[in-house]
Order: sequence, then structure tokens, then C-alpha cells
Amino acid sequence: MNPLSLQHNHLHIESADLVTIAETYATPCYVYSHAALTQAFQAFEHALQGRDHLICYAMKANPNLAILRLFANLGAGFDIVSGGELQRVMAAGGNPGKVVFSGVGKTADEMRLGLDCGILCFNVESEAELQRLNEVAGAMSKIAPVSLRVNPDVDANTHPYISTGLKGNKFGVAHEDALRLYRLAASLPNLKIKGIDCHIGSQLTETRPFADALDRVLTLVDALEAEGIELHHLDLGGGLGIRYQDETPPPVADYIAALLDKLKGRAHTILLEPGRALVGNAGLLLTRVEYIKHGMEKNFAIVDAAMNDLMRPALYDAHHNIVPVVPRDGNGEVYEVVGPVCESGDFLGHERRLNLRQGDLLAILSAGAYGMSMSSNYNSRARAAEVLVRGQESFLIRERERIEDLFSLEHPLP
Ligand code: LLP
Repeated sequence: MNPLSLQHNHLHIESADLVTIAETYATPCYVYSHAALTQAFQAFEHALQGRDHLICYAMKANPNLAILRLFANLGAGFDIVSGGELQRVMAAGGNPGKVVFSGVGKTADEMRLGLDCGILCFNVESEAELQRLNEVAGAMSKIAPVSLRVNPDVDANTHPYISTGLKGNKFGVAHEDALRLYRLAASLPNLKIKGIDCHIGSQLTETRPFADALDRVLTLVDALEAEGIELHHLDLGGGLGIRYQDETPPPVADYIAALLDKLKGRAHTILLEPGRALVGNAGLLLTRVEYIKHGMEKNFAIVDAAMNDLMRPALYDAHHNIVPVVPRDGNGEVYEVVGPVCESGDFLGHERRLNLRQGDLLAILSAGAYGMSMSSNYNSRARAAEVLVRGQESFLIRERERIEDLFSLEHPLP
């Protein structure tokens, strides 16, 4: 669902006018659509109907408590990668019994927190982590539920920074090693094998790598079950891509149908860990043009958002469409859309044709995932506000940071 529409020549998200949002909350400001978030989640639910399943939202994509609460109310679980994320789930009223804990570097403290809260499963990524988890659980007289994250060595055909299922990546245990490690896990007294896990990368735009990875996982499932190691669930990770520009990712229903096709006759509960596909196109970054600058070679639209607010262009050369909130007639000019940060890498879009004047509002689209969650305070910039729109209503779900917040933990020498 696209929550954006032009009404009376003003861009709206659902029924809320983005001009009003900018006047109310100031810019830069992230704005999300309640309906788009809900529908994205329901598309997954719908496609999995009739099958035992749990959708564990990969909250690293956008961990705002309001968004976690919204998904929790729809029945979601969560894929977390830190103790901090688990604390957010608890603060949002999420059910820890629906949490899976991924990540290659879980500390003993994080394991204790997960065990205390009673999470559903630890997705273990190495032999050393298995050993540590067994010790930590033993010391607490608890049994830790585990899956092994298997690296299927499948090429996800995505940006190298967000590909995770290749042999050369730091993630998971090698397919060749998995059997041995499951036997080890089965022999450790304070672990209970629950399932198997696999995540091969992010922003995948084809079904094939998912299907190939699942084939590889299923050969292991069969080998394990032949040895009497029963699995309760299969966690197939996240990674489904969205359209930023002209990508054509499969619809959720097709992607899931392709997976379910391979799972016929198997009774396992299916877990998925989507992040981007749930929130990416439900959000935008609203920004105002501070200056127009006609350089010798290029025109610059200098806006009040920057790489610290939305890092994806600078980090991955990612493309986000940028559209005017109040479009003007005429062709305009080609601009570099840049922020105020002191880095040449601080751009939000290259070579964008826009008809602009100083003071205009722009919407940077598809910014709901890995936008606010990857923001920083570089250049002592306070992080943007976040607003959730439902119908005509808007709610401030994160206040704009105050500069005092930025240095409140710092201590000059006496
Ligand atoms: N599960 C695991 C274990 C993951 O590592 C990730 C993402 C996900 C699920 C969710 O993947 P998604 O459905 O969102 O593709 N910052 C990058 C994306 C990094 C993704 C890292 N892991 C970006 O802005 O494109």
C-alpha cells in the first residue's frame, strides 16, 4: 500500500497534510503511516494463514516503541540483536516469549537478560557462543532454547554490505559444520534445541536465493531428524526487498508461496524475520530547503536533513526518491540534494530534477527502515522528531532531541 497521495496540490500521508505536519513538528522529521505499517504486517499474516507461524519483526529496521507496540498488538514477535533491543520490546509491552535473539556477539549479560525474560530462542552463530550460552544458562539453572544460524553459502545478489549468507561473511555457522554443532548442542546439558535459522541478506529482489537457501536448510533438517534431533521451528530470516526506485521485488504473497511450496508435508512452525518489508515504504523523511546554491558545475539544494538523519545514501550509495510536498509547475533544474554536514559524502540524492525555491518542503521517500535507526549525532545535530499518522491524526512518537541531551552524559575535567 502506498500511503501517499497529492490532495489539493499538497502531498498527504494517509489524510494528513505534510505541510501541516512540518508546521506542527518542524523539520527534519520522520513521518510514518499507521495504515501502511498495518497492511504490510497483514500481508505476511495473510500469506501464512493455515500454517503455524510467527512473524518476528526485525526491529533494527525501526525500533520506535510506538511501532513495536503497533506490531505487538497485531501479534508480532521480534527479532532482536542486542540486550537493548530486548529492553525496548519489554518497554513497548511486547511478549518476550515471541522474541528470537540473533547476532554474532552476544555477551554473557545479554544472554542472562534473554534467559531472565524467557525469550523464545537464541539464534546461535558459533561454537564458542554455544559453549558460553550453556555455561550462562547452567549458572542460572535454566535451559536455553537454541537454533543454529546456518550460513547456506548462497549469493543474495544484494549490496555487499548487507549480504550475510556467503562463506566469507561473519554470520552463522558453515553448512558443513552444522551437523557437528547440532550434535554438540544436543549433548550440552543446559541447551534445548528448538529449531534452525538462516538469514542470507537484505533488500533481496528475487525469490530464487531464498528458495536456494531453504533447499540447503532442508537437507540439514532431514539429516538432523534422521539422527533423532527434532526441530520445532524453521526460522527463514528476513531480507525481502522493497521498491525504492525501479526494483521489482516479489510481492509478499509470492515470496511466501515459494517458500511454503518447499515445506509441504512438514509440520514445523515457520518463523520469519522481516524488517524493511514491514516499515520501509511506510515512512518518509520530511525536510526543508534551507538554501539553493548554483555552483560552477552543479546546483545544490541544501536541506535541513543530512547524512546523520538518513545514512543510507552516504553509506551504500542508496537511492531514495525525493519529491516536493507542494509541487510547482515547470521543469526546474537538476540538483544535488545535500545536507549541512561537513562531508562531501553528505548527500541525500544525486542529480534530481526538481523545481525548487528556498523554504520548500521535500519528502525523502522509503525512509521507514534503517533511517532513524541508523541516525547519529554527527556534527552535534539533534536527532529528528518522529511522527506517526493515523488517518487525519498525527502523534509525536519521538521528540526532537534537545542539544542538552547530546552532552548530558559528558563531564569536562574539573
Ligand atoms: N534477520 C537478521 C538476522 C538480520 O541480520 C536482518 C537484517 C534481518 C533479519 C532483517 O532484514 P530485512 O528484512 O530488513 O532485510 N542497514 C541496511 C540493512 C542491514 C540489514 C541487517 N540485517 C540498509 O539500510 O539497507
